[in-house]
Amino acid sequence: MADTPKRDFNRAALTWDANPGRMKMAADIGTAITARVELTPTMRVLDFGCGTGLLSLGWADRIGSLTGADTSTGMLSEFNAKVRQHDIDNATTHLIGDATGLPAGPYDLVVSSMTLHHIADVPALLHQLHAVLAPGGRIALADLDPDEGLFHSDNTGVCHFGFAREQMRQWLMEAGFTSIEDCTASQMNRKTSVGERVFTLFLVVAEKPASK
Ligand SMILES: C[S@@+](CC[C@H](N)C(=O)[O-])C[C@H]1O[C@@H](n2cnc3c(N)ncnc32)[C@H](O)[C@@H]1O
Repeated sequence: MADTPKRDFNRAALTWDANPGRMKMAADIGTAITARVELTPTMRVLDFGCGTGLLSLGWADRIGSLTGADTSTGMLSEFNAKVRQHDIDNATTHLIGDATGLPAGPYDLVVSSMTLHHIADVPALLHQLHAVLAPGGRIALADLDPDEGLFHSDNTGVCHFGFAREQMRQWLMEAGFTSIEDCTASQMNRKTSVGERVFTLFLVVAEKPASK
């Protein structure tokens, strides 16, 4: 299979937070996650595909540590600028490169917002996330419900036109997760090439069993 052309997230990083729609999505997803997963002062959190930290940086004073992992140096640079600006002392970044995978962990919670559709092999990623979680740890992943390729005006770097929740549930079970629950985390209207459409984002929360 030919590689999907990559989107230039380094360039996008410079103006990422200036988009109100993105701010709303991240805020909605954050609200949905914290309604289902209690943040605790010792919790070790990994934000996979963290971007500029819109989802998780605001949690820093409620958790033990935060690792923002991303393939874009530009995104991580914006993340680190906020860390310095707000004197956050428990957040670090990890650059995922061709030769470097996920940070080793262990983590108590792995979150992700709008990154899965950029990952070609999501089942393989779910196995990797399972491996870096501590026993009893949880994941909380948010992305698009099936969108027919209409959500993005340019689908460069998009490997999946959203995900069917049943498919995601199946992949999570195959990766060893239990207690799988999903909900609708956010909804928005967008102008598309075929007119205005409503898009929804799912959040799925699942657990790595303590005994495995
Ligand atoms: C749509 S953005 C979402 C950023 C952030 N989570 C947010 O909600 O604002 C997708 C992010 O995934 C990152 N990304 C793309 N491919 C990735 C990969 N294979 N592994 C980790 N991060 C990746 C991009 O650099 C970008 O920061």
